[in-house]
Formats: sequence, structure tokens, C-alpha cells
Amino acid sequence: MDWGMKNRLSQVMPGGRCFFMAMDHGYFQGPTTGLEKPGETIKPLLPYVDALFCTRGALRSAIDPLNSKPIILRVSGCTSMVGKDLADEEVTTSVEEIIRLNASAVGVSVFIGSDYEKQTLKNLSQLVNACETYGIPVMAVTAVGKELEKREARYLALCCRIAAELGARAVKTYWCEKDFDKVVQGCPVPVVIAGGPKCETELEVLEFVHDGIQKGAVGINLGRNVWQNPNPVAMAKALRAIVHESASVKKAYEIFNEGKQKLESHAGRQVLQ
Ligand code: 5RP
Repeated sequence: MDWGMKNRLSQVMPGGRCFFMAMDHGYFQGPTTGLEKPGETIKPLLPYVDALFCTRGALRSAIDPLNSKPIILRVSGCTSMVGKDLADEEVTTSVEEIIRLNASAVGVSVFIGSDYEKQTLKNLSQLVNACETYGIPVMAVTAVGKELEKREARYLALCCRIAAELGARAVKTYWCEKDFDKVVQGCPVPVVIAGGPKCETELEVLEFVHDGIQKGAVGINLGRNVWQNPNPVAMAKALRAIVHESASVKKAYEIFNEGKQKLESHAGRQVLQ
């Protein structure tokens, strides 16, 4: 692997592990709850994450270039929640733009099994062609659009393997309860766990992340389960402990509760004053 590629990968995956903060939701679903002002939402979480996953628009308008984290630029889009088909994506950004924004990596969705399978796989392949020239890693996102029921091991394994074969340096995919280890084992490049809709409880999030890491994933790319939580910093601390310190679910939940209590006692003091 060339020096530049290795260096960029190590920026976003220090020590081979990663906590990516997903904040790209606006590119297809507009001002998502909790991310109406992305800069304000993300700022307190920055110390706990390894990289931000966002579009060029959010980056320019909401992220301070002086005190940022490495950027994974979301470079596919051109569809919306209210349009005909979320899978009908194109690549939105040129390689010059990726370099100008000093992105450490890029992310592109593939919609395997959809009407746009070939188009989105071509998006991935052509992006790999362009980015490899400059040592920029491409992360494939195995997307399912609104068809959340597709998230089972056989399908996810197929998607991850295809994305890796086409040249992705990492693949982001959903965790699944059964056989997630087979998804990881069938993929020759690092697998990053995607978030998905907000879970009912914090414990549920910590459990699926812990299980995914145990089964070989190198890290997480989570959004709503962090910044839609009433205690996002406590959640980020707990997740970081699982990813980077191999914390158990019990330990991570303690970290979450400690963080939450600190915030509550701080708020209590403010009310008393
Ligand atoms: C959307 C994405 C998001 O980055 C991904 O879904 C993670 O965010 P969340 O944890 O909120 O689902 O790739 O296509």
C-alpha cells in the first residue's frame, strides 16, 4: 500500500479501529431532527470521534477547518426521501474537490439488488479509479434505502464482498443479529458498522456495537443513536470505550450513566444558582 493511502487510512482508523460520526443525513432527508444545526450538534462530540462523515456543503458551512477531525466526504447523492427511488444516486463531487477539501477518505453508497445496482456499483468503481491515483481511500456504504428488512447476513455479506472486490478500501454495512461474523469474514477489507434508525434504549446500541466489534468489525459509523440521544456526549464516551478500549457492555453502560449523571448534576446546580 502506498504511503499516502496508508497515512490517510491511519488518520481515520487510528490503531486500526474507528468511530466515525455520521452527519451526512441532510443529503437525502433534509434537516434531520438533532442535526438542524450540524455544527452545534457535532462540536461537543468532536473529542470522542475519529472522523466526521459529511457532505461538502455541511463541511463548508458548519465545520471549523482549524479544529476539525479527519473528514470522510460523502460523495454520492442526488436523490431524496420524497423522490422516486433513493437508490438512483450519482457521484456528486469531483476528485479535485475531494483534494481541495483535504478529505482523508470518501464514502459512496451502493444499492445492490435495486434497479440501480449497476449504476451505483459503477459509481463506486469509477470513484475508486479516480481516488486511488491520489491515495484516497474509498469507503463503500451498503445502502438499503427504505427496505430495512434487507439487513440480514446473506445479503450483507454479498454486498460487502462485491464492494471490496470493486476496490473499496473499507465497507460500511449494517450489523445483523445472526451470522454477522460471516459478513465480516467474507469481506477482505475492514468492515465498519452502520447505525440505522434510533434504537429504543442506550443498552441496545451498546450491545449491537459490542457484538459487531467482537465479531470482527473495526469500528462504527453512527449518527442518530448518538446525537438524537438526550445525552449525546455520554453516549459518545461509552461507544468510544467499546471501540478503542475493548470495554464490555457493562463498563460502557457505566460510562454512559456517569456521563449522564455529571450532566444532570451540572444542570441541577445551574437551576439552584
Ligand atoms: C446514510 C448514511 C449514514 O451515515 C448512516 O446511516 C449512519 O447514520 P445513522 O447512524 O443515523 O443511521 O450513510 O446513508
